[in-house]
Amino acid sequence: MKGSNAKDILVNNSNKEMSEMQTKNQVEDSIIQESLLTCIDLANSDLHQSALLLKKACLDSGFFYVINHGISKEVTDKAFEQSKKFFALPSEEKMKVLKNEKHRGYTPLYDQIPDPENQVQGDHKEGYYIGSEVPRDDPQWDRPFYGLNTWPNPDVLPGWRETMEEYHQEALRVCKAIAKLLALSLDLDADYFDSPEMLGKPISTLRLLHYEGISDPSKGIYGTGAHSDYGMITLLATDGVMGLQICKDRNAKLQKWEYVPSIEGAIVVNLGDMMERWSNGLFRSTLHRVILNGQTRYSIPFFVEPNHDCIIECLPTCQSENNLPKYPAIKCSAYLTQRYEESHLKFSSYKNKLE
Ligand code: OGA
Ligand code: NI
Repeated sequence: MKGSNAKDILVNNSNKEMSEMQTKNQVEDSIIQESLLTCIDLANSDLHQSALLLKKACLDSGFFYVINHGISKEVTDKAFEQSKKFFALPSEEKMKVLKNEKHRGYTPLYDQIPDPENQVQGDHKEGYYIGSEVPRDDPQWDRPFYGLNTWPNPDVLPGWRETMEEYHQEALRVCKAIAKLLALSLDLDADYFDSPEMLGKPISTLRLLHYEGISDPSKGIYGTGAHSDYGMITLLATDGVMGLQICKDRNAKLQKWEYVPSIEGAIVVNLGDMMERWSNGLFRSTLHRVILNGQTRYSIPFFVEPNHDCIIECLPTCQSENNLPKYPAIKCSAYLTQRYEESHLKFSSYKNKLE
């Protein structure tokens, strides 16, 4: 996508020859099945046993479930209820909190186009980004991805901010527990990732998503186009409506997509590209997408990346003389900026749209 923005790609793709896409996707659809993912019990006191199980899942797909994570049903249900209330507001009200240059706030339909080669329009979803709240008196508050959140008017949605802050905090706690197991599974000290230098001031984003419509891969229409997540760990809570699919072998001639079913009380977790880079390609950041069947669907992904200035470079336990680092070292915020720009409409293009 270098040298072009999401808008250009939208236009170019609408003129694209469709037959190739159609044939490919028809074959794909006929072999879709459900994926059987590993389940990690976060209440298991045998951390080494859990780390072994986790390692297997990370080598295979980087997708797994966690149970006994400690986020209560009440907290999750409240977050979904409040999310529904927000998306049900009139468009003018939602536009008052349109996503700003800090990636906070409302993202209307088609904001993101993660797979421009196969999508004719942006993702068929609207969203709301809530990032790490770094107050103005903090010396780092104006760094990229840090700063203040934007919130809907509390007179319109009472308690909304508190609900989301509570879920955000809980989700971060779960990610830190997973980070400990990931460290153990990579033969590192349990606190390797969960340390002040790495996760002391993480860039963590809660995203509320609302999907409508029917996806049609043969026409290049998706709830979310195929992508891998950029960061370290993603937690995904859904309302139970099917839609998420993964493709374990992105390079296969005929990509095979498997549904990831929701399990009551379990959270779906996946590793992002930073984790793949850290582990020198050992742990997988797997391609995934959302296919809609006409049912309204809500989901709440939570993305964790390390501190703004953390350098993502090959871990000491993942390299040797015969296995040299495959990816150059890169600062977390620089990597994220690059990935956001590749897949999102620019802030300025929203403003142009509104004028
Ligand atoms: C994402 C994502 C899946 C879903 O937001 O990165 O993959 O089910 N979401 O909403
Ligand atoms: Ni994703």
